[in-house]
Amino acid sequence: MKTSRACTALCVCCLFATAVIAFADEKADRANMQIFMRQKLEFSKGITEGMVLEKFELISINAAGLRKMTQTNYWIQTSNTNYLAKMTKFQSELDKLFFAGGDRNLDRATEAYGNVVKSCVDCHHLVRKEQIGLPRWGVRD
Ligand code: HEC
Repeated sequence: MKTSRACTALCVCCLFATAVIAFADEKADRANMQIFMRQKLEFSKGITEGMVLEKFELISINAAGLRKMTQTNYWIQTSNTNYLAKMTKFQSELDKLFFAGGDRNLDRATEAYGNVVKSCVDCHHLVRKEQIGLPRWGVRD
């Protein structure tokens, strides 16, 4: 009897430890995700600088940087089916921006950048509900 009680206690301890580790892991994942996603702001800043200073190579380089991020974004695997559509649209706007930069065409780049920003806003609006359910958005430490 004593042994079985000790066994139960051990099992509970193990489960608790696993839960703690899983929670810590999830927190680390979230922190890494945030660092990754925040890189989008750096690229956007680069694009804005390229636009206002007419440094066209900055526009294309940063558009390409944003484009590359969309290929490593594991949010694609989310059950939100509209996410992929938003992502594809975002990619196509970025392609237009990239080529407008390459053609040194400020008007086309300005229009494309407007659409890129619209894509940022649209997708964020779509995922907001899911974001709210995530640890970083729920309980902040
Ligand atoms: C196709 C969808 C999509 C598009 C387009 C998109 N994002 Fe995001 N973004 C996300 C998701 C998903 C997250 C992660 C949310 C999370 O994990 O809480 C995120 C996170 C972020 C974060 C981090 C937020 C935080 O809590 O620190 C920033 C900043 C950000 N995005 C900026 C941008 C900018 C700027 C653009 C446009 C240039 C953009 N995003 C376009 C889906 C998108």
